[in-house]
Parts: sequence; structure tokens; C-alpha cells
Amino acid sequence: MPRHVAIVMDGNGRWARRRFMPRVFGHKFGMETVVRVIDDCAARGIEYLTVYAFSSENWKRPDEEVSGLMNLVLVGVSKYLTRLAKNGVRIKVMGDRSAVSEKVRQAWNEAEELTRDNRGLTLTVAFNYGGRWDIVQACKRALADGVSAADLSEESLSRYLALAHAPDPDLFIRTGGEVRVSNFLLWQLAYAEFYFTDCLWPDFDATEMDRAIAAFAGRDRRFGGVKTDPNEATA
Ligand code: FPP
Repeated sequence: MPRHVAIVMDGNGRWARRRFMPRVFGHKFGMETVVRVIDDCAARGIEYLTVYAFSSENWKRPDEEVSGLMNLVLVGVSKYLTRLAKNGVRIKVMGDRSAVSEKVRQAWNEAEELTRDNRGLTLTVAFNYGGRWDIVQACKRALADGVSAADLSEESLSRYLALAHAPDPDLFIRTGGEVRVSNFLLWQLAYAEFYFTDCLWPDFDATEMDRAIAAFAGRDRRFGGVKTDPNEATA
């Protein structure tokens, strides 16, 4: 079982279009899916779930869709926060909060504050997040802290990355049929196993998660080492 699952939740727009509905309708159903997947992951004993809800590049979408996604944060927090908090979920938000509205910032702050001492699944929502942004902000904060070139290392820098509160993801899932990373967790995915599915995010369910986890379980993770074959004769 992976400890940490990271998901690019793609396909909401196409899911909505197939129903002759606006794209935001797909995102709304996508949010319901996130809530179900949180419960499912917690029940499986997965400790960390990280989801890509809004990328640094998503500002390029039509105004109506951007404001629909922002509104969804407010709706989602008011509709689900109490339940998630009661279920022990600890919520973290990572991304550049300076560019989002005061209302959205407050909603995220409230979600983090209310759940900060929870010991269940840690849900990290990537919002106005980009992997390159993350690496640059980590460097800036390390420099501001006086970390010298001599002290800079993979370990010292990773303390400044937005996902410093979690181990690196073991399993990366992307729904919606595209086969790319799209500037998600560039540093942290170094040794993740990748799983891609054509399933559109609003349709992602426990059976789809079973498939992803079965694929993960069948992989031979070597982290750059060599394969150890139990049948190989030892000299
Ligand atoms: C990608 O699908 C999805 C997004 C850009 C938004 C993801 C957001 C949610 C699932 C809602 C959850 C929100 C919160 C606040 C937790 P797409 O629009 O690119 O789909 P397409 O490829 O079919 O066009």
C-alpha cells in the first residue's frame, strides 16, 4: 500500500461537455469525487493524499471557469470542512496564496486551523501551485534564512518545499487520458510510480483506485539500486 498518493484530477471539463453542461459543472462533480476519494484513502490506511486543484497555469482559463473554481473552494469548505475535521483529516494547502482573493485565503486558513491537530489522513490541496514555483520559493526562503551555498543540499532545501510536511509520494495518478506531469511536484515525484488512466476524474471511484493500487503493488521499486532476485544463486 502506498503511504502517499498524489493525483492530477483531469477530465472534469470533458465529463461536463459530454453532458452538454458548462465546465464548472464538471469541477463541481470533481469536488464530490475528491471527498469520496479522501474517505476511500483513509479507509485503506493511506496516510497522505495530495491533489492538484488549481495550477499556476490555470489562470489562463476563461474568467467564468476561474471564478467558478474559486467559488468552489468557498462552497467546498462550508459544505465539507466540519465532516472532514470530524473524520480526523488534517488539511494543508500549498501554493502561492498572495494571488488569490482574501475570501479564498480565509477559507483555506480556516480549513488548516480547524484540522491542524488531527492525526488521520493528511490531505494537501495544491492551489495556485506549480512545481517550478515551489522550487524557486524554497530557494528564496532558504537564502532569506541565511542558508549558505555550502549548507545547501537536497535535504536542507527540501525543508523549504511546500510539501515538507509529507514524505515523497509513492504513487502518482493522473486521470483523463493525458500522459504528462503538468508542473506538479517536480522535485517530489523523483521516485514515484506513475499510473495513468483514461477515466475522467468525476468517474474515478474505489474500483479505479483498486486498479491504481494493484498496478503500484506490481511494480519493482529499486530507488536507483539493483534488482534483488530471490532465485538468483549467490556466490
Ligand atoms: C482538470 O480538468 C481539473 C481542474 C483544473 C480542476 C480540478 C478541481 C477539482 C476536481 C475540484 C476540486 C476543488 C477543490 C477546491 C478541492 P480539466 O478542466 O482540465 O478537464 P478537461 O481536460 O476535460 O478539460
